[in-house]
Amino acid sequence: MNELTELHIAESFVTRSMAAISPLFLLFLIPIIPLSLLAILALIVRPRPIKIPIKSRHVFITGGSSGIGLALAHRAASEGARVSILARSGSKLEEAKKSIQLATGVEVATFSADVRDYDAVSKAIDESGPIDVLIVNQGVFTAKELVKHSPEDVKFTIDVNLVGSFNVIKAALPAMKARKDRGPASISLVSSQAGQVGVYGYAAYSASKFGLQGLAQALQQEVISDDIHVTLIFPPDTNTPGFEEEQKSRPEVTAIIAASSGSMETEEVAKKAMDGIKAGNFTVSCNFEGFLLSLATTGMSPQRSFWLAFLEPLKNGAKPKPNDSPTMYLEVLLAEA
Ligand SMILES: NC(=O)c1ccc[n+]([C@@H]2O[C@H](COP(=O)([O-])OP(=O)(O)OC[C@H]3O[C@@H](n4cnc5c(N)ncnc54)[C@H](OP(=O)(O)O)[C@@H]3O)[C@@H](O)[C@H]2O)c1
Ligand SMILES: *[C@@H]1O[C@H](CO)[C@@H](O)[C@H](O)[C@H]1NC(C)=O
Repeated sequence: MNELTELHIAESFVTRSMAAISPLFLLFLIPIIPLSLLAILALIVRPRPIKIPIKSRHVFITGGSSGIGLALAHRAASEGARVSILARSGSKLEEAKKSIQLATGVEVATFSADVRDYDAVSKAIDESGPIDVLIVNQGVFTAKELVKHSPEDVKFTIDVNLVGSFNVIKAALPAMKARKDRGPASISLVSSQAGQVGVYGYAAYSASKFGLQGLAQALQQEVISDDIHVTLIFPPDTNTPGFEEEQKSRPEVTAIIAASSGSMETEEVAKKAMDGIKAGNFTVSCNFEGFLLSLATTGMSPQRSFWLAFLEPLKNGAKPKPNDSPTMYLEVLLAEA
């Protein structure tokens, strides 16, 4: 073998292995570049974890007389908060008050008002005193195909879930912004997984809960300078009195889709929600399916974690298939079940 042939062999070997390596190498670079940019950004910004205290603070919960709201009231009371609950029915409020007193020894303040009535809500909130942690949890839900839903029922759903939430927040906000040296405050909204993805039978309900996403995102920008942290909570099916009632008339398709994301007990949801509120997280999912749904649907909402902020748009980079949609995740879960 002369030197020239040897060189040729060596050369072609190098070219061939380069050809084999370079696409892999490039693939490897794709996440490395943004990840290192993120690492640099994280170093510059140095995000500090937020801690919103509950002990000795005023926690105000709408819909606090039943289900998730009641479980949250129990939790806040047992953590040493001053608790106020608001709902329509005076007798349900009284019952809730008794059960909390029995379990924790804490006497909660009760306010009977309809969230659709701004003046009534405003009066109750003024009476209760400045709020540190506001939990907007009231909600109504009936699953029904839109053709079968009366216009009055659609309006009722939007009015209680969305307009009512505006009423509560608007009534509480001035005093919350004016609080001085009281530490970080929180405004949280109980949405639903049906507020992340439209679900059969939930046209009105999903619309009302999707509305909370816009409200929360805009509001967070307006109140961050007041050290107020907005949290959106996305529970799956939860075993509450409201849920029991809804089950009686749920269309079968709604039940199948909802079941793909599992179901939870009120205490579990209340714990997840309270932990998320305390951490000042914008998005709080309650189970693993909910976490996947959040990844798939978070869009451009605030994100505390640089790692998740990277993952969220990354999943959008996947080449869309003809049937690719947010419900795909539910479908995948459904197929696995
Ligand atoms: N359970 C689930 O499967 C599930 C899943 C995802 C999200 N969520 C959401 O979680 C929240 C709580 O649901 P839940 O299942 O705990 O419901 P629930 O057991 O029916 O309790 C609803 C609470 O809201 C109050 N409320 C209803 N309409 C009101 C109004 N117009 N003004 C003031 N208060 C009102 C109710 O009291 P009064 O009737 O006396 O007013 C009650 O205290 C809702 O926002 C719901 O959309 C629930
Ligand atoms: C808050 O968000 C961070 C970042 O996404 C996450 O690691 C943490 O588990 C969340 N905490 C709660 C209590 O939800």
